[in-house]
Amino acid sequence: MRELIDKLYSEHSLSREEYLRLITRADAQLSEYLFEKAREVRKAVYGNDVYIRGLIEFTNYCKNDCLYCGIRRSNKNAERYRLTKDDILLCCKEGYELGFRTFVLQGGEDPYFTDERMTDIISAVKTRYPDCALTLSIGEKSHESYQAFFDAGADRYLLRHETADPQHYKKLHPAGLSWQNRINCLYDLKAIGYQVGCGFMVGSPYQTAENLADELIFLKKLSPHMVGIGPFIAHHDTPFSNEKSGTMEMTLFMLGLIRLTLPEVLLPSTTALGTIHPLGREKGIMAGANVVMPNLSPVSVRKKYLLYDNKICTGDESAQCRECMQNRMRSIGYNVVTGRGDHPGAGV
Ligand code: 5AD
Ligand code: FES
Repeated sequence: MRELIDKLYSEHSLSREEYLRLITRADAQLSEYLFEKAREVRKAVYGNDVYIRGLIEFTNYCKNDCLYCGIRRSNKNAERYRLTKDDILLCCKEGYELGFRTFVLQGGEDPYFTDERMTDIISAVKTRYPDCALTLSIGEKSHESYQAFFDAGADRYLLRHETADPQHYKKLHPAGLSWQNRINCLYDLKAIGYQVGCGFMVGSPYQTAENLADELIFLKKLSPHMVGIGPFIAHHDTPFSNEKSGTMEMTLFMLGLIRLTLPEVLLPSTTALGTIHPLGREKGIMAGANVVMPNLSPVSVRKKYLLYDNKICTGDESAQCRECMQNRMRSIGYNVVTGRGDHPGAGV
């Protein structure tokens, strides 16, 4: 199996069958070998720097009903909230003072935030913080809307595709949502000029090893600037409440494979990874990730943005998370840096 990792290390791609062989034979020893190679690659591109993004969860209203997600429309127990433009600017101010130079505005697909309201917020953030990158993560929109956000100053867009398999997609989403539309969105975003992030959950219900191999083929083809992955974790008020969570081991293995497949990719060690294991985020970095996304949302709303059970950091102030992250990264020999942290090929 090591030959396959060596091959991936030097060629940055494998066939579906080769990826599949690695995924099905992943064990502790092979993982350690993979992570060593992944760290080597990430070190050559990014040194020991870890980029931070300030995540602002500005609305948990959502018109969609994804079966895995705690803020799905049908969850009547979710206590809904929206931040105002002033709330958002206050989060940015606090974040800026803490050294954040990327803000991620994430929310459910909330019709209240029309293009007009969004562009107003985007230009306000960019006018006040021209040296910061602004990332949006607000779901599927028309080409026209994406263009309007981009023209207003948004730099990056995160839209996890959730699975590269249209059949699997149908098992995770209600009828009205289409895999093809989601993929079209990613290509639209790229064409407009965004730095684009896609991603998927590891261990989501019905996911097979073949699916995971297909994820890597898909990533190679799309060649996004960022890839967000984390374990699936059940939420008690969803149809998947009794489903098994994804494992930390497989999530880490996928991080390593992604690093070798896309050497320059921006790869977060996610909150979900930190939720299934107390040292999950540190291990993610050690497996090849190079980004962390501490929460900048006001503490008053954090518990309400519950996509899955037991989410960490919901009681902590932004400054605490910032400090905590710095310490965690330092403890494994990495430095959190202040800076936009663009993709090397982004042309900015
Ligand atoms: N477990 C893990 N990740 C989840 N997400 C949504 N629900 C869950 C869950 N139950 C992820 C999705 C989404 C991102 C914002 O959070 O991949 O795109
Ligand atoms: Fe939030 Fe550690 S990162 S408390």
